[in-house]
Amino acid sequence: MKRALTVVWLVWCGGLAAGATIYMDGWIDLNKNGRKDVYEDPAQPIARRVADLLSQMTLDEKLGQLQQAWREEGDEAAFRDRLRQGKLGSFLGGDEKIESPTVRNRLQQIAVEESRLGIPLIFGHDAIHGFRTIFPIPLALSCAWEPELFERIHTVSAREAAAAGIDWTFAPMVDLARDPRWGRIAEGFGEDPYLGALYAAASVRGFQGTNPAAPDRLIACLKHYVGYGAAEGGRDYNTTEISEFTLRNFYLPAFKAGVEAGAWTVMSAFNCLSGFPASANSHTLTEILRNEWGFTGFVVSDWNAVEELIPHGVAADKAEAARLALSAGVDMEMVSSCFADTLKRQIEQGKVPEELLDQAVKRILQVKFVKGLFDKPYVDENIHKTVFLRPDAIALAREAAIKSCVLLKNNGILPLSKKLKQIALIGPLATEKAELLGCWASRGQTDHVVPLADGIRAKLGPGTTLTVLPGCSLFPTDTDAAQIQQAVAATANADVVVLALGEPRDWSGESASRAELGLTGRQTELFDAVVATGKPVVVVLFNGRPMTIAHLVTNAHALLEAWHPGVQGGNAVADILFGDAAPSGRLTVSFPYCIGQVPIHYNHFNTGRPGPGKFRSNYLDAPLSPLFPFGFGLSYTEFEYGKVQLSATSIKRGEKLIARVKIKNTGTRPGTEVVQLYIRDIAASAGPRPVRELRGFRKIHLDPGEEREIEFVITARELGYYSTDGRWLVEPGKFNLWLAKDAASGEPVEFELVE
Ligand code: NOJ
Repeated sequence: MKRALTVVWLVWCGGLAAGATIYMDGWIDLNKNGRKDVYEDPAQPIARRVADLLSQMTLDEKLGQLQQAWREEGDEAAFRDRLRQGKLGSFLGGDEKIESPTVRNRLQQIAVEESRLGIPLIFGHDAIHGFRTIFPIPLALSCAWEPELFERIHTVSAREAAAAGIDWTFAPMVDLARDPRWGRIAEGFGEDPYLGALYAAASVRGFQGTNPAAPDRLIACLKHYVGYGAAEGGRDYNTTEISEFTLRNFYLPAFKAGVEAGAWTVMSAFNCLSGFPASANSHTLTEILRNEWGFTGFVVSDWNAVEELIPHGVAADKAEAARLALSAGVDMEMVSSCFADTLKRQIEQGKVPEELLDQAVKRILQVKFVKGLFDKPYVDENIHKTVFLRPDAIALAREAAIKSCVLLKNNGILPLSKKLKQIALIGPLATEKAELLGCWASRGQTDHVVPLADGIRAKLGPGTTLTVLPGCSLFPTDTDAAQIQQAVAATANADVVVLALGEPRDWSGESASRAELGLTGRQTELFDAVVATGKPVVVVLFNGRPMTIAHLVTNAHALLEAWHPGVQGGNAVADILFGDAAPSGRLTVSFPYCIGQVPIHYNHFNTGRPGPGKFRSNYLDAPLSPLFPFGFGLSYTEFEYGKVQLSATSIKRGEKLIARVKIKNTGTRPGTEVVQLYIRDIAASAGPRPVRELRGFRKIHLDPGEEREIEFVITARELGYYSTDGRWLVEPGKFNLWLAKDAASGEPVEFELVE
């Protein structure tokens, strides 16, 4: 037990279960018998420490652990008494002024040294695509088809955030999304559950490492559980209707993979999921997450999501909201205070069993022990000065931004020569820094961003003149046509015009749904005016979602999708434009031809009437196919695919099938290809299988003229699907298989799985 005002610093040496970790400089205190309590002893197993602590807690102290509060400037004093009374378990948010390691330590000190039991706080923060070093948005990163990249990036995010006093990140966001109207598509990994699962696991590994208690690691949080990305109409926070079959096969796999990778927390979502809000949904929060998957960490609600059960229409008041959320499996409440305000009375009245509260408290305490907060509650207040924006982080940000770019069109104009006499760089994003940071800029600072103009300038010698003009504003409020005229005039002597276009970063991310997916403001007008000059036009798009860009694709000579690329965006794009790096990104989300096609995704079911023609499933006034399919992306070279060879045309259950294809670089430049393995289960008993499903890929580098045979091993893991009760079903029957460049190309080969 802690004794307030008794400050004893000791060096505590003890072994963990493995006997390998020595704790130094830890804070311990003595109880009235002159001994540590069990929960204060790092040598004790976590379960014993949790049980010992719980047995000493009052109802108020237990409820305190369930409350996460939001901090704002000037708040500190207001929290002091609550902290002393043990009435807060966690903090989130705030800006740099109030979320510094110094402020953290001050608050932590009150919790640890002035409260009765000295339970440390856990500090949460949204480090979604970097902390100070801002990387490309997750959707962009997913286009690298490189799970290890997420691992490396989040290792850096964790290092920086932890140095700033953060223990826990609300990431990764693993919501599958098929609707680009939904702004939060920017925060996820795209439309594919297979890739999503790989990225989820890699992200967790990156944040948590092998020991989340390490001073440069964070506790990860899988969010938003679940189905949030299927918001009706793409409108944020909106209702979702997802069948159990679709939930299991599309929306849950990334969460399951994240749990299997060891994520210690999960965030319950805002949305109503198939008839009941996700933050009070015992089917997903308890039956699936805990009972089926064995998740042992804790669930935090999303911001205010417990209280929002009232407007959702399932709870009459805060007490009912608290009851519903807690009994469904939410352990910690973010910001709203239904638990803290109502549960004591409800427990005393016998409406809520205290065991339910104890269960939530245990889960939260366990994670605090796992993070090492009891043994090392404070952070070094100076280390962040040497940890932020280290050269390896900057180099990684550039590498990641290069790998995230997807070349969507090139009539041969790219790469540009560095010897051109005149280049006009036009567009509202040409010199922009802040916009390149993307939707969750965390502690990213505008000053650290390399804008496109600087990236291009760094490539050019004295023989090239670079003219830079905005042409128009990024925002719809702009009405100044004169800027467009000036921009057009500036192209008069240009050998090429690079147009930096897109959408503002605040137009994607949370609460940033769009009903139209075109360029914002007068950018289309600017584009048309520049195209009308007849100059070669290269468009670089900076955006947070797929946009409807058919008009640009038709009229530009080249188009590079750069997304919101983070601090090294300008350098990375310039590397690609001038051929110092080759474009290698591949889309992880379909680009709709027009908005009426949305939601659109490659792994759709077939319908009973697929294809063109009357009384078939199609549109009268738009194509059926997307503008760019999942998996699509060009290189500066060409790759030729040979015929796919199978080791057998039929295999028995338990046997392996080998699929091989020869790929040749037939161009004159080196390049990177992403060879994609798709399958289709022709007939499945529990429900239809998609027309194609990604079940593997290989990223290969080939020099000009080089040919390589790529081999995939297909087992039950690649051929099954989830039943509505969560079993992995592998059924005999015919399958199609493709080894292809993207989800719309290649010829299928057939094989059969027999009993
Ligand atoms: C609400 C968002 O939905 C969630 O993703 C985020 O982690 C929390 N706010 C905390 O900032």
